[in-house]
Amino acid sequence: MTPAYRISSFADYQTAYEKSITQPEEFWADVAQQFQWSKPWTKVLEWNFKAPAVNWFTDGKLNITENCLDRHLNTIGDKAAIIWEPNNPQENTQTISFTALHQRVCALANALLNLGIKRGDRVCLYMGMIPELEIAVLACARIGAIHSVIFGGFSAKSIVDRVQDTQAIAIITCDGAYRGAKEIPLKAVVDEALQECDSVKKVLVFTRTKCAVNMLAGRDYSWEQELEKVAASGKTTCPAAQMDSEDPLFILYTSGSTGKPKGVVHTCGGYMVWTAYTFVNVFQVEDEDIHFCTADIGWVTGHSYIIYGPLLAGTTSLMFEGIPTWPDAGRFWEIIAKHRVSILYTSPTAIRGLMSHGLEPITGKDLSSLRVLGSVGEPINEEAWHWYDEHIGKGKCPIVDTWWQTETGGIMISNLAGITPAKPSYATLPLPGVQPVLMDGSGQKMLGNSVSGNLCIQFPWPGMIRTTWGDHERCRMSYFDTYPKLYFTGDGCLRDEQGFFRITGRVDDVLNVSGHRLGTAELENAINMQEHVAESAVVPFPHDLKGQGIYAFVVLKEGIPPSDAERAAIHICITENIGPIAKPDKIQFVSGLPKTRSGKIMRRILRKIAEGEMEHLGDTTTLLDPGIVEAIKTGAKNL
Ligand code: WTA
Repeated sequence: MTPAYRISSFADYQTAYEKSITQPEEFWADVAQQFQWSKPWTKVLEWNFKAPAVNWFTDGKLNITENCLDRHLNTIGDKAAIIWEPNNPQENTQTISFTALHQRVCALANALLNLGIKRGDRVCLYMGMIPELEIAVLACARIGAIHSVIFGGFSAKSIVDRVQDTQAIAIITCDGAYRGAKEIPLKAVVDEALQECDSVKKVLVFTRTKCAVNMLAGRDYSWEQELEKVAASGKTTCPAAQMDSEDPLFILYTSGSTGKPKGVVHTCGGYMVWTAYTFVNVFQVEDEDIHFCTADIGWVTGHSYIIYGPLLAGTTSLMFEGIPTWPDAGRFWEIIAKHRVSILYTSPTAIRGLMSHGLEPITGKDLSSLRVLGSVGEPINEEAWHWYDEHIGKGKCPIVDTWWQTETGGIMISNLAGITPAKPSYATLPLPGVQPVLMDGSGQKMLGNSVSGNLCIQFPWPGMIRTTWGDHERCRMSYFDTYPKLYFTGDGCLRDEQGFFRITGRVDDVLNVSGHRLGTAELENAINMQEHVAESAVVPFPHDLKGQGIYAFVVLKEGIPPSDAERAAIHICITENIGPIAKPDKIQFVSGLPKTRSGKIMRRILRKIAEGEMEHLGDTTTLLDPGIVEAIKTGAKNL
């Protein structure tokens, strides 16, 4: 079943890359032809980055679920599409074949239609990591509804923001979710959010934990009962809505440097081609692979490499409900041994966390099935890279360091496992179709090697962001305005003497905490909601496990003395407004923030102080009150 577009040697990579640059339309048409379209496209690509307006496979019609499921039924129908490993190792694993998944997706799709959900409607999903989340995603795609998954760790307020922005008419949720030793009452959080969400008419609730839930008649429906109704109706299939290639498939929110998270929109045709192409090539997928991506489906990695990429490629995807350290730090290794996992795709944060438990949890675990290791979400430090290589890969598995973003839909810069060279802490070379350029401070393209600058992409690729939901101008401003005719990633990057790329981290006001993106503005807004806070400034600082930690400088209102109680109240405020992942690691109370005469906070100075750099703070003469810096430095030393 190896697709014709699978690259099989370094020379092959060079040929593919060359063609993707010189004849992009022919190149992508060849790839796209390997999928099922109900109507062929009339034009492969139309684009301009000024608007921006990007169309791939114009006029083509398809449904991504037919490509994920129906297309495989005659060949690999009995093969496992999903292996689900529950949070609690005592509970049974579930294996769902392509045929069974197809049936379950069709059944739920019919239930959604019965609830009045139509093509183009937005549906928010707030669930734990259970197969039903994947089924719900696919059922939406089946009927042409636009799914927007909300990470199960986000707060009611975060749900409100996303539901209001999408104007979703339905939410699919669970009674509760398991996460390590915790049980999280998801439906109760949804209930709280819905007090402020008028657009939502239907809530579908799957029973996972059997905790008590309130069901509002006429609004809340039981997943199980709705499926019984579908079964009683005798319908076993659900026709797939034929979508335009450029119809939205999903909206996924991600943090930017300003204000509220933005809804990144991906469309059906291009995203399909891109996720399948990148999945097959980066991981060098083989028929018998068991692919274990440890991300949560609430993030883009879960969308592209737990659900869509693997299903499109006909690969078995292992989905895990729990956390790496519960019941103990050997959980990943146990799962790998139990299911003979061949591809492990995880984050540097998870690797560093597991590394901190020493080798004992690995001892005696059979990891011999592993063939390829992957890293995603943040820069991987060399120490973690070597540990991963030596202790997990046993020196025989290529490690793919995959750089990409919610906005790019799929992997952009990465070595291809065993095909192109790896270099620790380098994402290395661009995938075919990806044309990276580095820009210097004056807006000039940096040519040649051994240079570093801001990473941009100068030509469209099929999986790229099309718009930010409801606000196209925001998309233009965020990504296409900084440098004319370029997509700006927000990342800094170095190109070494061999032309290999190394991502050095965000250059905008976005933090990457344990691989999760958080905007400083978003964090500050949440902190400022604490009633005793006058203002705040948030910066990252290097953190051994999380990559970056959150350092908050907080000014309390006149007459409020700093105390642990104020600190605790800030934590509660952040948890309520964003979620526990956004809790600051350090809170320093200060009497004022370093500001310029025009009132702009000089984050550069705060960043240095947070990093422990007290001496070389650069020019502070433009500050309104240079004295404040000394006080902040003293406070930081005593924190
Ligand atoms: C960072 C996650 C270094 C980067 C798929 C990017 C990385 C942001 C890597 C996107 C990597 C992701 N090496 N940095 N291999 N992968 N990043 O949208 O800063 O959650 O801009 O997408 O994560 O995060 P997002």
